[in-house]
Order: sequence, then C-alpha cells, then structure tokens
Amino acid sequence: MLAIRLVEDPTEIDALALPVQAEPAAAGHRMLATSLAVPSEVTGEVEALLPRIDQPGAAGAVHPLPRPLRSPSDLLLVGVGAADEAGWRTAGAALARVRRGDGPLTVALPADAPPDAVRGLAEGLWLASYRFRLPDERVDEPENPREIRLAVAATTSYEAALTAARVTAEATGFARDLTNMPSSVKNPAWFADQVRQAAAAHPGLTVTVREPAQLEAEGFGGILAVGGGSASGPRLVEVSWQPDGASQHVVLVGKGITFDTGGISIKPRDNMKLMRKDMGGAAAVVAAVVGAASLRLPLRVTALAPLAENMVSGSAFRPGDIIRHYGGTTSESTNSDAEGRLVLADALAYAVDRLSPDFLVDLATLTGANAVALGKRTAALYSDNDDLAAAVAAASSAAGERAWRMPMPADYVEYLGSEVADLFSAPDRGAGSVVAALYLREFAGELRDRWLHLDMSAPSWAEANDAELTKGATGWGARTLLRWLSSLR
Ligand code: BES
Ligand code: MN
Ligand code: ZN
Repeated sequence: MLAIRLVEDPTEIDALALPVQAEPAAAGHRMLATSLAVPSEVTGEVEALLPRIDQPGAAGAVHPLPRPLRSPSDLLLVGVGAADEAGWRTAGAALARVRRGDGPLTVALPADAPPDAVRGLAEGLWLASYRFRLPDERVDEPENPREIRLAVAATTSYEAALTAARVTAEATGFARDLTNMPSSVKNPAWFADQVRQAAAAHPGLTVTVREPAQLEAEGFGGILAVGGGSASGPRLVEVSWQPDGASQHVVLVGKGITFDTGGISIKPRDNMKLMRKDMGGAAAVVAAVVGAASLRLPLRVTALAPLAENMVSGSAFRPGDIIRHYGGTTSESTNSDAEGRLVLADALAYAVDRLSPDFLVDLATLTGANAVALGKRTAALYSDNDDLAAAVAAASSAAGERAWRMPMPADYVEYLGSEVADLFSAPDRGAGSVVAALYLREFAGELRDRWLHLDMSAPSWAEANDAELTKGATGWGARTLLRWLSSLR
C-alpha cells in the first residue's frame, strides 16, 4: 500500500502540490492558503498563472509547473472543487495517477482544513493506486508514487481521519481483489479460505463455514440447488465481529456466485464474459466486517456469504424445479439464471431465524435491469423503512458511491404468485430489479421493516480508470457499508 504520512514541517520538498479551489463560483478559482509557508516567489508564480489556466480548481484537475534548478523543482496545482470531502477525494485520485512511478510528493493542506479533507485526499490516493495482482505475480516497476506527505498544521487532528481512510481503502481493496480474481481460482472453497485468512489477521473475528453436507442437514435448498451443477461445491460463510457490550447487531448478506453461466438457462456469450464479478456483494459484506473489526466499531456485525458456482451440467438444477429454502418456503424457478435470489433467500431466512438482527441488509449483483434503470454507476436501493433507506443512501453518497431509492409497488407483488410453490422466483412482468427485491423481501419475514436491499450489478465494475476507481472491480458497497456502520451506535 502506498505510504501516506502526516507531517507538520516537511523538509527537502522536491515536489509540492498546492490546492486550488473552484467553489463558490463567485470567488473564482483561487489557491488555498496552506499551513506550510510557501515562499512568496512561488505563490507569485501561481497567482500569475492561475488566470491563464482553464478551470484550475475543477476537482481532479492537475497542472504541473516544472521549475528546473529551483526548489521545489516540481510544482503541481491540484483542483479540489468545492474543497469538500468529495473534491479532496477526486484530487487525491488524480495525484496518484499523475505521479505514478515518481518520487515523494508533499501536498500542502490549508491550516484550517477539516479532518474530512485528509480523509478524502488519502482515500482518493489509496483507492486510485489500487492494482490487481495475482498472488504469485512479481512487480518490478514502481507503480505508485514513492511516498505522499500531507503537510498539515497539527498531525494529531488528522490521525483518526487518516485511519478511517486507510481502513476504508483496505476493505475496498480486499473486495476488489476477491472480485477481480478469475473464477478458475475463486471457487466457493477458495473464497471461504480467503475469509478465514483475513479473519485470522484480525483478533475478535469468528468464521464458520458450512460445507454441502451441513447445508443439506440444515435445509439450505437454494444454495444446494444453485451449487449443484458445479464440480466445486457450495459454501455458506458466516463471519462475525462481536465486541463486548455491543448495543446492536447488523447482519449483512452478500450474493456470492463465483461464476454465473446462467445454468441450463445459459447466458449468451457476451453476457457471460464478466460473470466472475457475480460475488461482488459477498466480497463487499465480508470486507465491511473486516473493516468494522479494524475500526473496532462498538456493534456486532455479521456477514453471510452464500457461495455457489452456477454451472451447466448433468447435476445442475432445471427450469421448473421447485426449491425448498432454509425454513421451508418453496420457490418455483423457471429460469436458472435467476440464481442469486435463490441463494440469498436461504441466507436471509437463516439470518431472521437464527441471528435476530436489528438490521438486515443484503447486497447483490442481482439483475441486468439495475443498469437499464440507473446506468453504470448507481446501485438500486430498496427498503420499506424510510429512516434506514435515508441513512444508507446518505452513507453511500458521503462515501463516494451512489445509490438511488426505488419503489416497491404493492400491485407487483402478485407477480410472485405460483400455482405449485409459495413463490415464483423469476417473473418477467413488473420490472426486473423491482420484482427481484419484492421476492427477497418475502424472506425477511418479521424483519421486513428492518431490511434493506442493494442491487449493485451495475456499479460493481468500472470499464476504465475513473477518478478513484481502477478499471475492473470497484468493491462497490464496502465504502457505503463501513460509513453506515460507523454512523450506528
Ligand atoms: N448475475 C446476473 C445479473 C447481472 C447482470 C449482474 C449483468 C451483473 C451484470 C443475474 O444472476 C441474472 O442473470 N439476472 C437475470 C434475472 C432474470 C433471469 C430474471 C437478469 O438480470 O437477466
Ligand atoms: Mn444469473
Ligand atoms: Zn447472477
């Protein structure tokens, strides 16, 4: 991980980044006064140049001003937008990309910068410097800036913010690593091992892994049906952070399909290409629990990851099969590509029955319809609980991830009716993401008013580097969940 240090009196500054603010528009784009005493010769040059640069304060704009033979020898103007957390995050991401492979950089912060400035800046730097590597891959070339020094008035005021940023970036990186990993490696057992290893590094985390025989004994029919076609058997991973005196218990459930071929209702080839990402929900929820442990949050948090590989084979489940879930509810499934909801149904019913949480939140790369409704960068949020929906939506926008609340019209519920089972799992009426949410809600039982669902199919993947997102898995949800959990007491 890129080294980021807080410093009060940096010495030997070769490269210096100075922040330029764009908002409020009336004030124009102007260099922020920094706690570091910048020589008047330097500020003079910057003031002279600013009017000649187009939008120098736009968040993430970087203008290098080389000053050979002088000190500092590299000056960078970096736009921080409105100088809020989001603006600093975008600025940090841009600096990480511009400085790839370069020597140490000092970023001068305003003397009165709020802790959120450091949080945003550091998060942007760390998230944007993420690279996926196979475990045995050697890295020779210097990928990231050697070191970043954040020059602040008093380091003690910012240590907590820097820690929050580090834990958030680590959790996001863990979720990205899991999601980027090819499915030839990441079968359900491998995923469970990764969780065991992460938990071993964090005292206070406990992990339980259920294998097929145990799932059979306890009636997890959805996980077994979906996992039945694969040579790599399914698992249910349960990882819990349980500090003494915890006031509340939150259960997070994440869809963990390690590869989704669609099963017998096989996907067209273009739709299958990226289906290693179909465990992004499971990745985010386990990463959030590991993050909660790192931050020692004063609440109990449990992540449930139902893991299965949805394959095409002689032992695969069939369209028209009737599946008996944990707890006994049955589903008629006419499309084996609607597999995510079947594994989630088991895990939700189990959470209600055995864990009695205060809140029950699930994350899933559940439907292609998420992107149809909201585009590439926004998750669909569903809950009957207005306060819960507002709190998670606020956490998500503060964290730099986007979620938009969706309706759950009462008259669509009838589409879940089946002649032969309690529920029909794959209606093609209503709207894809909405009816999937309505189906899941049936398994929240008595916790229906404390349940929230995020369909994050679309934002789980970035097609190109974009601000703090590195091409590939985004780790969507780890940031939102950690923010929200940190706001609970
Ligand atoms: N994993 C897919 C959803 C998905 C699509 C995630 C695109 C990410 C990108 C899910 O299992 C699926 O296949 N959903 C079907 C549901 C339908 C069969 C009711 C879909 O969205 O088409
Ligand atoms: Mn599917
Ligand atoms: Zn799927």
